[in-house]
Amino acid sequence: METVKRSKVKDLLQSSAYGTEVMVKGWVRTFRNNQFIAVNDGSTINNIQAVIALNSADDALLKRLTTGAAVSIVGELIESQGKGQKVEVKVSHFEILGDSDAEKFPLQPKKHSLEFLREIAHLRFRTNTFNAVFKVRHALAYAIHKFFNDKGFVYLHTPIITASDAEGAGEMFRVTCLDFDNPPRTESGEVDFKQDFFGKSTNLTVSGQLEAELAAMAFGEVYTFGPTFRAENSNTTRHLAEFWMIEPEVAFNDLTDNMNLAEDLLKYVIKHAMDTCADEIEFLKNRLLEEEKSKPQDERSELDLTAKLNFCLNNDFERLTYTEAIEILKNSTPNKKKKFKYIIDNWGADLQSEHERFLVEKHFKKPVILTDYPKDIKAFYMRQNDDGTTVRAMDILFPGIGEIVGGSQREERLERLEKRMSEMHIPAEELYWYLDTRKFGTAPHAGFGLGFERLVLFVTGMTNIRDVIPFPRAPKTAEF
Ligand code: 4AD
Ligand code: MG
Repeated sequence: METVKRSKVKDLLQSSAYGTEVMVKGWVRTFRNNQFIAVNDGSTINNIQAVIALNSADDALLKRLTTGAAVSIVGELIESQGKGQKVEVKVSHFEILGDSDAEKFPLQPKKHSLEFLREIAHLRFRTNTFNAVFKVRHALAYAIHKFFNDKGFVYLHTPIITASDAEGAGEMFRVTCLDFDNPPRTESGEVDFKQDFFGKSTNLTVSGQLEAELAAMAFGEVYTFGPTFRAENSNTTRHLAEFWMIEPEVAFNDLTDNMNLAEDLLKYVIKHAMDTCADEIEFLKNRLLEEEKSKPQDERSELDLTAKLNFCLNNDFERLTYTEAIEILKNSTPNKKKKFKYIIDNWGADLQSEHERFLVEKHFKKPVILTDYPKDIKAFYMRQNDDGTTVRAMDILFPGIGEIVGGSQREERLERLEKRMSEMHIPAEELYWYLDTRKFGTAPHAGFGLGFERLVLFVTGMTNIRDVIPFPRAPKTAEF
């Protein structure tokens, strides 16, 4: 009969209660020399070593100690004989809870490519890299809630299924229960969504912002943190079809308050991750150094991961207008030498990620906030400047990432908003509820959206967004 309670590997590795009997349960990472089991239980990126005395166990049982097998081990916690760890477990008894056929288990104790691991995303949690990535992801999610909670924000759950298109961009996934082969039609022959589940045409949300604005007009300060969906066919390392977004919305804030809030949030959550995931970030730093060895010198990062994160914490983000940025880009070497894929020759051009990254990585060498974009490349709800051509938008650009945050001060003046909506062919009838906030007690307010996976990318130093969300959704990708 077992009386000893299971300990977590993380706690045992920090313990010095030598001589006590302990129980560990976890998965075998490696088994060497018929003696040394490296066991991981997910509580830490580090394994504990369990040592079986030679000739003390049945051969048939030892053979079942294969990579991936689930085990339960009881033994004495002792000071480690070998180097590399402080403690180990001297096994008195062990049990195989679940076998893992060494011939068939795809994860072997060797380096696998990230591409391969993406194909076996159901198993990749069991690697050090993904253990670290998802621990950091968790820490960042927690820190986001803590940051806003401590400031008195209300966490608002906005709908996933909506009948509106918040960004006016129109790249949405439709939600329907209509019969595909034989949908009901109106007299004029169009699909009749009145007969659909919701009695109207609906989609997965691209943003919770419009609903967050409604709540901000009552609570003052709210934020959302939920999944959002975009059917844009961009097969890049920075786009997902399903991603998580954090959207704070604050009454009485102007664009400067908005920038300050975003900068504080980013610094706070990065610091929290560094404080609580030191082992994981150290591991990811070394992983990145290793990965970059195969790259030519000029493509390697100037700073290692920890230095890059610290640099971001210790510097004010550079703030400048879109117009100033265009001047810098126009006169830049890659623009003059036609190294950019999209040459910047006139004001009004939408910035591509190559331009954003030039500003951040080469020109300023720190995070940048661009403001006051041309109204024609931004959404209808942004506050119009007196110049008639720009809006109170802000984008935050990060090294290696490009745009990580997009936000603005909102147009709180009813007539201006209605005019802009009609210019942009946004049906006012459908958004009557949004316009009501401007009719009843309208107030200046501002908010932004932080792409959660882009944040996780930055903090983990991973290079593909599909490696920082457990089961990525992207064009032609919806496995698991
Ligand atoms: O700039 P976006 O489109 O802004 C909005 O959706 C606003 N409603 C936000 C607001 O003001 N409340 O998206 C915000 C952020 C981007 O800066 C980017 O970090 C992330 O969301 N993002 C994506 N992340 C992954 N995959 C995609 N396809 C993304 N599209 C946007
Ligand atoms: Mg944007």
